[in-house]
Amino acid sequence: MDYSEVLQQIAHELKPVIGQGKVASYIPELASVSPHQFGMAVVTISGEVHAVGDARTRFSIQSISKLFTLVMTLQLEGERVWSRVGREPSGTPFNSLVQLEAENGKPRNPFINPGALVCTDILCTRYAVPENAVVEFLRPLSGTEIHYNRAVAASERRTSHRNAAMAHLMKSFGNLGNSVEDVLDAYCRHCAIEMNCVELARAVTFLAHGGTHPSGQGEILTTSMAKRLNALMLTCGTYDAAGDFAFRVGLPAKSGVGGGIVAVMPGECGVCVWSPALEPSGNSLAGSLALERFTDITGRSIF
Ligand code: DON
Repeated sequence: MDYSEVLQQIAHELKPVIGQGKVASYIPELASVSPHQFGMAVVTISGEVHAVGDARTRFSIQSISKLFTLVMTLQLEGERVWSRVGREPSGTPFNSLVQLEAENGKPRNPFINPGALVCTDILCTRYAVPENAVVEFLRPLSGTEIHYNRAVAASERRTSHRNAAMAHLMKSFGNLGNSVEDVLDAYCRHCAIEMNCVELARAVTFLAHGGTHPSGQGEILTTSMAKRLNALMLTCGTYDAAGDFAFRVGLPAKSGVGGGIVAVMPGECGVCVWSPALEPSGNSLAGSLALERFTDITGRSIF
């Protein structure tokens, strides 16, 4: 498969839609990102790197960090995680409060905001500086120096009233061990980590390779846990658009409001696409279309 050619074709076909949709503006610091950017990268489990467009421009990974905090949480807690967070699609927006109240403070899954806050809470219990632990976890996986953007983290922290409401609600149900303030501080910082498409595609290759990172970082998750994580990405990784995403793309994926989406082709490669303008569910509009073309053109998906 000539992935470079596939990526060139996708970038060419998608030119007319780049910029359609809306850049996330509820985090003030992200509102000024130009919507006219598009990058895509494929990193195969044998280490080949294919990239197109702005694939080496770093962006705010936002909710893609929830994938990595979940991996760290599973490494620490194993199956115990599931007593505090469910694993069903939510069918509601990623920052919805209604379901959390109705379900006694147990979030539906680890990829909606309250579920991710529980994972961050677990990291706050284990690490003195949890956001640094996330950054250090990502460096060997991506093979580069990773940082979080302090201005983006502070900007989200100042305006994170809904996340604070969810954290307080969970605290009232006994599902948050640390202070709401400490959990939100760490959460906003790991959401503000900046990476590019090549770094992210490389970071998820262990999910395409049975849980073992193909470039020598060893076992990140057992094969069984990696299978389960891929299943969660398929069913919950793109919020209430996950059904449509599975239908159109057919790959496990995780998106973020910075406009990035990572996807996994089991046995083959990690993929990342980035274009900042979003459709109403919070997924990159051009990014979703690019992944749909990727599986159509290559004829490969998990189905
Ligand atoms: O908590 C938030 O709202 C953001 N830090 C992350 C949201 C996000 O990326 C959801 N994505 N689609």
